[in-house]
Amino acid sequence: MSITLHNKEFEISIPSVKIQSRVQQIADAMNNELAGKDVMFIGILNGSFMFASDVFRRMKFDCRITFLKLASYEGTSSSGHVKQLIGLNDNLKGKTIVILEDIIDTGITMESIIKQLMGFDPAEIKVATFLFKPSAFKKEFKIDYIGFDIPNDFIVGYGLDYDGLGRNYEDIYSIVKSKKEFANMKNILLFGAPGAGKGTQSKKIIEKFNLVHLSTGDILRSEIQFNSNLGKLANQYISKGELVPDELVIQMIGNRIEMYGECGGFVIDGFPRTIPQAEALEKMMKDKNMSINVMLALKVPDEILRQRLEVRSVTEGRKDDTPDIINNRIRIYNEKTAKVANFYQKQGRFAEISGVQTIEDIFKQICDIIENS
Ligand code: AP5
Ligand code: MG
Repeated sequence: MSITLHNKEFEISIPSVKIQSRVQQIADAMNNELAGKDVMFIGILNGSFMFASDVFRRMKFDCRITFLKLASYEGTSSSGHVKQLIGLNDNLKGKTIVILEDIIDTGITMESIIKQLMGFDPAEIKVATFLFKPSAFKKEFKIDYIGFDIPNDFIVGYGLDYDGLGRNYEDIYSIVKSKKEFANMKNILLFGAPGAGKGTQSKKIIEKFNLVHLSTGDILRSEIQFNSNLGKLANQYISKGELVPDELVIQMIGNRIEMYGECGGFVIDGFPRTIPQAEALEKMMKDKNMSINVMLALKVPDEILRQRLEVRSVTEGRKDDTPDIINNRIRIYNEKTAKVANFYQKQGRFAEISGVQTIEDIFKQICDIIENS
């Protein structure tokens, strides 16, 4: 179904059933983590009113909610425009604050909200956002609960507006894009063994080219964190360093491509890892008049992979970064995944780069290839 607001056409990108099931997962996580604390939810007006209400009514412990608005005013500081929180009359000292926001893009506004709330001496501040634009995010603060990652696109519904209209719809709608624009997307596959630097380079690529990062590993870990059915299933494989079954991963990536369809393109990291996954991706792309520009493969010897992941196990604490599981992941990559490169080599859409260079040098080579692809 599509809607027209101020002469622009929008179509559903996140249906309300998906919204409600995600909000339920977030609420379940909050009920587990926050019960017993002195919690004050703070909804940021106007956009968060639906999300705030849907989360709050699912809380199963005694807690409070209040709403704040941000007022723009010309500050005397060098930063010029400062947004000040207004409407706060409650005592926040010693409380656990959970900020409920509709959308975080650059993160500048949320960082300023956090700083202002810190001045009230709370015990801790947690951030929950219904929508998150990873390709626009420029800040460092932790976001504790995220509903959906979305591309840098124009969206309305579920509290969000386009020039005042559209807040009342229960679904999220994105502005309709023409078929020609889909054909102009840049879709990049980032390929390589565990620890090759896929995630590291993806972050840089999405920022420079304004693309959406789809990492099957990150998506599966977030499903595990939310203890969803998919997460429970995936954990049985990830915890051993085995591949999650094709049909689950294919469906998961298909849903994301469908959901974020209105963007400049994707950096897909960690998918496809098997030939059936590669074939399924080709079909999905064809059905949407999209295509993969290039598969970029990062080549790193196994010994260096092991060293990197052992270091990362200390800094990031990923559960599958233990020596035994690392060995199994590398073995499975060599046995089952490495051959997927041939699939793209044969089609002339493949480039291999040494992953044993500085992160910046690798990135420069990647940029050259993407610009010419
Ligand atoms: P996933 O999360 O994709 O893990 P992975 O492939 O094992 O790769 P990593 O995320 O560990 O490494 P990376 O290449 O992103 O390297 P990073 O940039 O972090 O998958 C996890 C699991 O999910 C799988 O085992 C599987 O069970 C399941 N799964 C996922 N996708 C699936 C699919 N399609 N089908 C079935 N199952 C699936 O870098 C690593 C470290 O090195 C970092 O500390 C970094 O700082 C450092 N580093 C990066 N670049 C450099 C450099 N140039 N020089 C020095 N250090 C560097
Ligand atoms: Mg990764």
